[in-house]
Amino acid sequence: MSSTLDPATGRAQIAAKTLRTDRWWLSPLLTVVGLVAWIVYAVVHAFMQKWYFVAEYNYLTPFYSPCVSLGCDPAAAHFGRFVPDVWWLPYALVSLPFLGLFRFTCYYYRKAYYRSFWLSPPACAVAEPHRRYTGETRAPLLGQNWHRYFFYLAVILSAINTYDAIHAFIKSDGSFGFGLGNVILVVNVILLWAYTLSCHSCRHITAGRINNFSKHPVRYKLWGFVSKLNAKHMQWAWASLVWIVVADGYIRLVSNGTFTDYHHIF
Ligand code: FES
Repeated sequence: MSSTLDPATGRAQIAAKTLRTDRWWLSPLLTVVGLVAWIVYAVVHAFMQKWYFVAEYNYLTPFYSPCVSLGCDPAAAHFGRFVPDVWWLPYALVSLPFLGLFRFTCYYYRKAYYRSFWLSPPACAVAEPHRRYTGETRAPLLGQNWHRYFFYLAVILSAINTYDAIHAFIKSDGSFGFGLGNVILVVNVILLWAYTLSCHSCRHITAGRINNFSKHPVRYKLWGFVSKLNAKHMQWAWASLVWIVVADGYIRLVSNGTFTDYHHIF
């Protein structure tokens, strides 16, 4: 197969779209299906404004945490209620935008949606439909650099979710409780922290600009820990994304009476 150089881009051009014969399209297709399904679920449930809290067990869906609307159940509003209760302001007003910004600018998700939605390129060694490539050098993609700041917001949200998961061990009557919902909420915060701490920005925070590891043993240890998590960043990204839906769905189903939460242990 002969190739020529495109004078506009300086890139090699071949007549065939790709010479790959494997199912290279499967990964971008699954990414589109998964992300679109998640976004539809999140938007619908963000505006539902009900079935987000099980008062008896203090289960609050991570989608609505922190719940700061005046319409939130006071027992679910651990950080105050100060946002007007109108239909167009979702109870997930704080959590979803920050969660969205952090994930939207994440290095892994960038790769995922650049490939799957922008087809830029859809896979290695597959021609992209765009004639020009400008990378992330101009607006709006220049804003991807804000990811390092969104990381700090994600840490705050993870801490709030951790507080909720711990608080859910105290039932509304003040006694200790342990049920399936507690397990689901604890797994949710473990996955959330694993995803957040495996962030490339976090890895840089732990040991960026260090020239000599032996002089910074604590930061070296932290860097080693974060680097191990970072190697599985994509897996943490998907696991935490899916599990937040599991946690939200479970709490909704218990809240509206479809399920009974199993408190067999206590
Ligand atoms: S790189 Fe993915 S969360 Fe920071």
